[in-house]
Amino acid sequence: MVKRDEIKNLPRHIGFIMDGNGRWAKKRGLPRLAGHRAGAENLRRILRACGEWGIKYVTIYAFSTENWGRPEEEVKGLFSLMEQFIDRELPELMKNGVQVRHIGRMDGVPERLQEKIRYLLESTKDNDKLILCIALNYGGRAEIVDAVRRIIAEGYRPEEVDEELISRYLYTAGIPDPDLIIRTAGEMRISNFLLWQSAYAEYYSTPTFWPDFNEQELYKALLDYSRRERRFGLVKEG
Ligand code: IPE
Ligand code: IPE
Ligand code: MG
Repeated sequence: MVKRDEIKNLPRHIGFIMDGNGRWAKKRGLPRLAGHRAGAENLRRILRACGEWGIKYVTIYAFSTENWGRPEEEVKGLFSLMEQFIDRELPELMKNGVQVRHIGRMDGVPERLQEKIRYLLESTKDNDKLILCIALNYGGRAEIVDAVRRIIAEGYRPEEVDEELISRYLYTAGIPDPDLIIRTAGEMRISNFLLWQSAYAEYYSTPTFWPDFNEQELYKALLDYSRRERRFGLVKEG
């Protein structure tokens, strides 16, 4: 049961490493793509739940720079599911006041999906209830490389480079750092997700596969987070 008053402090920004679609499908004797389809369905459910909790920023890891190494059929299938997701979810995103942002490299992404993404970003840009960052063709290292390149290209002097400047040149400029990173399917690694931004994020890992990660599971993660003591390198008070 979800008990709202048990949770004293909510994260402002949650990052989701939506993992385990393939294993979810395998367990059922289905092709991997069926797992990705179920994962996309679940995304709708979790976004809605995050909105209901009043979470302001959500980042979802949809496709990493390393995921290009998967079989071509799976990569194509994932992109086609993303197109369908955009077509289907846009009205609901508008209704719920969701503003969508993209983080990652656009090059390499099929032109048709790029067009749909641009349309999605443009259509939702004035919404402000929840900011949804889609990490697609995203890699934390690539992001830092891209930032450094732009900083050099713009002629900054070495003494002008500090943490604040680098943050401003990341894809996530203007978005607060994640407070909580949730990874499904049991893995204990970050797989190149928000490397810079998650320096002080709280990690939460659950064995549940992404398609099964429901509202109750989200509640468990939020409850766990609310009981943590974030020290940021300082000493405990009192
Ligand atoms: C996560 O599920 C989705 C993407 C990486 C796109 P996986 O496809 O990685 O599922 P597992 O890890 O093989 O179970
Ligand atoms: C991370 O999952 C990437 C996404 C969820 C998009 P992976 O399944 O690609 O990560 P590894 O291979 O287990 O590290
Ligand atoms: Mg995986």
